[in-house]
Amino acid sequence: MASKVTFYDTTMRDGEQTIGVNFSIEEKIEIAKGLDDYGVAAIEAGFPAASQKDFEEVKRIAEVVDNAKVVGLARMVRNDINAVIEATKDAKHPMIHVFIATSPIHREFKLHMTKEEILEKIKADVTFTKQYMQDIVFSPEDATRTEPDFLVASVQTAIDAGATMINIPDTVGYDTPEEYGEVFENLRQNIIGFDKVGWSTHTHNDLGMATANALAGIEHGATEIQGTINGIGERAGNVDMIEAAAAIHVRHEKFNAETDIVLAQSKAISDIVARATRMPVAGNKPIMGRNAFAHESGIHQDGYLKNPETYEILKPEMVGATASLPLGKLSGSHAVMSKLNSLGYDVTRDDMKAIFPIFKSVAEESDLITDDQLKVIMQVVEEKEMVSYQ
Ligand code: KIV
Ligand code: ZN
Repeated sequence: MASKVTFYDTTMRDGEQTIGVNFSIEEKIEIAKGLDDYGVAAIEAGFPAASQKDFEEVKRIAEVVDNAKVVGLARMVRNDINAVIEATKDAKHPMIHVFIATSPIHREFKLHMTKEEILEKIKADVTFTKQYMQDIVFSPEDATRTEPDFLVASVQTAIDAGATMINIPDTVGYDTPEEYGEVFENLRQNIIGFDKVGWSTHTHNDLGMATANALAGIEHGATEIQGTINGIGERAGNVDMIEAAAAIHVRHEKFNAETDIVLAQSKAISDIVARATRMPVAGNKPIMGRNAFAHESGIHQDGYLKNPETYEILKPEMVGATASLPLGKLSGSHAVMSKLNSLGYDVTRDDMKAIFPIFKSVAEESDLITDDQLKVIMQVVEEKEMVSYQ
């Protein structure tokens, strides 16, 4: 039976940590509504203790979101925890995300805490939080650089104190997919009550492995992917949820998992976030890049026109995108003929013998051929051949 993978969005928290990104309240509300339509299970709306603005934003989002859980982030500090409890109290499904770093480098240089002190803090603060919030996500920050046995001890302490979801951050985007899968395997083998809580991946893209790592986590027992829209986030960003959701759909036979993601809303939510961040999606980005479903070379265009599946593993309309066959110097006669037919010219393969060389000579001097250029090419051909194709 297929398992269920849920998605936890942190575009407005980890994503807002992108250099130069500062959402307005209106932008956050638009993003939150778009995410709810996209089908995420949880929306991390901000870090309420960080500023009055963050607090107000989480509070407003808690009031307007219909389906997803609304989450606030908190360090293991009572003031942070109280701020989340207050900011999310009007949410239909409030949730808190508490975190503390567990790796040696963070313990020694950032927290100045021993392992024992960290375990005590986890126990005390999760126990405190549980009196006010049922749904608690616990993150051992920098989990992937934490000693495996101490990671188990930290996570077990959080579960025993009442955490309902354990998130495993690859905070600095360090792991390979195999290693990240191994972290989950170790937890699966050693945590008492592993199946009683949810498990989420949280992967950063410093080495370009965020999507592969999130999917490796899913293959090794994780039930949720934490990520952002368009992969925005600290440094090189977080896993792009649109990519991960599309991968689970396209490779259904491999992941054998269902999601609640409405893939057709991918373009809509990607555009909202691109506008609000003033960060257009790169042309070659998987799924949402403008080239992701575009074919310019002749061999690919010919195959695509015979059967789109020769070069497309996902129908663009499934993610709200459209396919295109831009015409350039590498394009073939088949695609040029098809474009001319769509512009109203009644041309056959035989006619292309006269048209294509002229197209080619113009294309060699241009980037992409526009419809207007094609019309001029046709005028030249018609005058030269003394025929009309219209
Ligand atoms: O990357 C990270 O470790 C985080 C934590 C706050 C979960 O974003
Ligand atoms: Zn992060």
